[in-house]
Amino acid sequence: MSIQEPKSRSAGSYFRTKSVEQSILDTEEPEHGLRKTLSAFDLTVFGVGAIIGTGIFVLTGAVARNTAGPATALAFVAAGVVCGLAAICYAEFASTVPVAGSAYTFSYATLGELIAWTIGWDLILEFALGTAVVAVGWSGYVRSLMDNVGWHLPDALSGPDVAEDFGFDLLAFLLVLLLTAILTIGVKLSARLTAIVVAIKVTVVLIVIIAGSFFIVADNWDPFIPESEGTVEGSGLDAPLIQHLFGYEPTTFGVQGIFTAAAVVFFAFIGFDIVATTAEETRNPQRDMPRGILGSLFICTVLYVAVSIVVTGMQNYRRLSVDAPLADAFKDTGHPWYAGAISFGAAVGLTTVCMILLLGQTRVFFAMSRDGLLPRFFSRTHPHYATPYRSTILLGVVIAIIAGFTSITELATLVNIGTLFAFVLVAIGVIVLRRTRPDLPRAFRTPWVPWLPIASVAASTWLMLQLPAETWVRFGGWMIAGFVIYFLYSRSHSRMHPPNQ
Ligand code: ALA
Repeated sequence: MSIQEPKSRSAGSYFRTKSVEQSILDTEEPEHGLRKTLSAFDLTVFGVGAIIGTGIFVLTGAVARNTAGPATALAFVAAGVVCGLAAICYAEFASTVPVAGSAYTFSYATLGELIAWTIGWDLILEFALGTAVVAVGWSGYVRSLMDNVGWHLPDALSGPDVAEDFGFDLLAFLLVLLLTAILTIGVKLSARLTAIVVAIKVTVVLIVIIAGSFFIVADNWDPFIPESEGTVEGSGLDAPLIQHLFGYEPTTFGVQGIFTAAAVVFFAFIGFDIVATTAEETRNPQRDMPRGILGSLFICTVLYVAVSIVVTGMQNYRRLSVDAPLADAFKDTGHPWYAGAISFGAAVGLTTVCMILLLGQTRVFFAMSRDGLLPRFFSRTHPHYATPYRSTILLGVVIAIIAGFTSITELATLVNIGTLFAFVLVAIGVIVLRRTRPDLPRAFRTPWVPWLPIASVAASTWLMLQLPAETWVRFGGWMIAGFVIYFLYSRSHSRMHPPNQ
């Protein structure tokens, strides 16, 4: 039985697909359409702007110190391979179904409404919490810069990670509100702003690589893969799921430590998939989407590997800082001027990451609303700015509050699991769409179908299994809430819902 030929009418409604042609037509409704202004260059800048962020600037230190040592570079390679496989699948989808909503839209056209809802709901989690995580990381860098000039925010306004009792992260909260206002005014402005900020961020990363390479002490790379030190802390819910399932003993350091680290630094790659969410605003999506997605991913992978090799060469991994490892490695080697410049660049750079995650989030919400799975009220675009201003403002305020009250670490793994799950569904979608719609023109074709998508599913699943069982429980809770909403509201309000059913 094919997915498009359901046995019964009621079972069929879960698998009802929105045709690719209908998806493209919807974007031409005047009140629900977005402007097509972005080029391949804009998309690559957008991708690099979204990808380089908290992952490389903050997580590198903790992972090198606690899980992988100098072999963190290999963890980046492993996570990069997983993302590369997924990116190739994403590129085919994005160039075939060039409408807002990313994996949500692609799965609606291929795997049916229930799966599309599942993935859309999942992407809301990824982008909303991702925005909050990065806003909190940004706030830390800004506070550190403020401290340099003698300005100190009270602990109670520095967030739950700093304050002993009540903590509200005022800076993270204000950043999200400011970015919400920018996105409400329009993509053109934010793309221009993004280009400037991305240039600063990439310059800072290059400073780390080039200047840092002069301060490397080769002894710090010995051993490159430190000896395994036993089971990661705890054997309860905070242990990786793979340990519960197969009795593996994931270890800190050693070869297994590289994979455990890869599941965490995976966060550093999140963002290339968001390029796909702007397909509808791209002038020539058939040609430019694959270039934008694969180009930005490749650039970031090279930079990450270089940064982690340099930083673990500058400072012994045991002494790397957890808060601002790149800047602190320069302080430790007696170069505070570089450290200040890096902190400044990181603070500026994290702004774009936050903004692009927020944009991806509003576009998924917009697409789901336009399809009726969420209230249609939210998909009216602004008469002047042509932006989905209602969903942008609603979600911006909610995320600002989450960013104000949330601790950074646990959220990052939740974001990772959500993203990996989306990768799995997209890869399956490539195979399904090749069978159900072989006729569709594809500007970019994934090679070796079905083997490459199958490899992508396997690689993403493998990384998901490295994440703590607790993360799986939380993810399950979010998805169950999503199903409740789907069955109580979305299914009957869907634009695909026939009036007599
Ligand atoms: N990849 C982005 C970061 O590292 C989300 O912050």
